[in-house]
Amino acid sequence: MENRTEVTEFILLGLTSDPGLQLPLFLTFLLIYTITLVGNLGMILLIVLDSRLHTPMYFFLGNLSLVDICYSSAVTPTVMAGLLLGDTVISYNACAAQMFLFAVFATVENCLLASMAYDRYAAVCEPLHYTTTMTTRVCTWLISGSYVIGFLNASIYTADTFSLTFCRSNLVHHFFCDIPAVMALSCSDRHVNEMLLVYIALSTCASHFTAVSIFYGTVIFMYLQPSSSHSMDTDKVISVFYTMVIPMLNPVVYSLRNQEVKTAFLKVKSAFISWKQNSL
Ligand SMILES: *[C@@H]1O[C@H](CO)[C@@H](O)[C@H](O)[C@H]1NC(C)=O
Repeated sequence: MENRTEVTEFILLGLTSDPGLQLPLFLTFLLIYTITLVGNLGMILLIVLDSRLHTPMYFFLGNLSLVDICYSSAVTPTVMAGLLLGDTVISYNACAAQMFLFAVFATVENCLLASMAYDRYAAVCEPLHYTTTMTTRVCTWLISGSYVIGFLNASIYTADTFSLTFCRSNLVHHFFCDIPAVMALSCSDRHVNEMLLVYIALSTCASHFTAVSIFYGTVIFMYLQPSSSHSMDTDKVISVFYTMVIPMLNPVVYSLRNQEVKTAFLKVKSAFISWKQNSL
């Protein structure tokens, strides 16, 4: 039997092990963190105090500032303390708490940005209905929904990561307890956990991401290189992607997955079938 010792604390390896860089990095992060706090607190104060800013857009922006403060605070102070004091040991529970808080606020931020995009869409594309679509009730729902989703998403990921057994090493190759860095230390079978991580992140955007990266990736490869450094043969192969493959993929990626297009497709299909039956 192998000798298993449970991990009770982690050591964050941080950004650098070079002692000469620690003070400059500390001062840089201190500056960044101070600007983050002052800028975002200032925004919140301004929005609360000025009644002309009591509109949906500023309601979202105020919440965005709040979330920015929180998720920066989940990481930056501990990194700064590590740089200044050289103490980068973090207990098992503190590591889980940091991962959870960071994931909550990062997810809320994602959802708030999506809500803000919807708000601007409503204001720009349907201005006449704006006051009836973006009511206080809708705004409250969008914002509280963002926090609920953040809480659920972070619970799933943190529980998923900390359900693993840690025994291999407790050296985290990162400056905070982020999911992949901690997961890498586990000696359990991580296959399912890693698949979950990849699946939830990619499920909504994988096809768009593939199309965009094939298009821009190949175009960048072709046109952003000095002409002496590449051979005409690879160029020709690469060109196949953006001249032929992309035009083929675009309908699949952008249109066929939309509900409206699927419905329209089914309608045309049934119209075609009944036309065929009538003409027989
Ligand atoms: C849920 O959390 C994971 C891990 O932090 C993250 O990768 C993913 O983007 C989050 N989902 C949303 C909708 O933000």
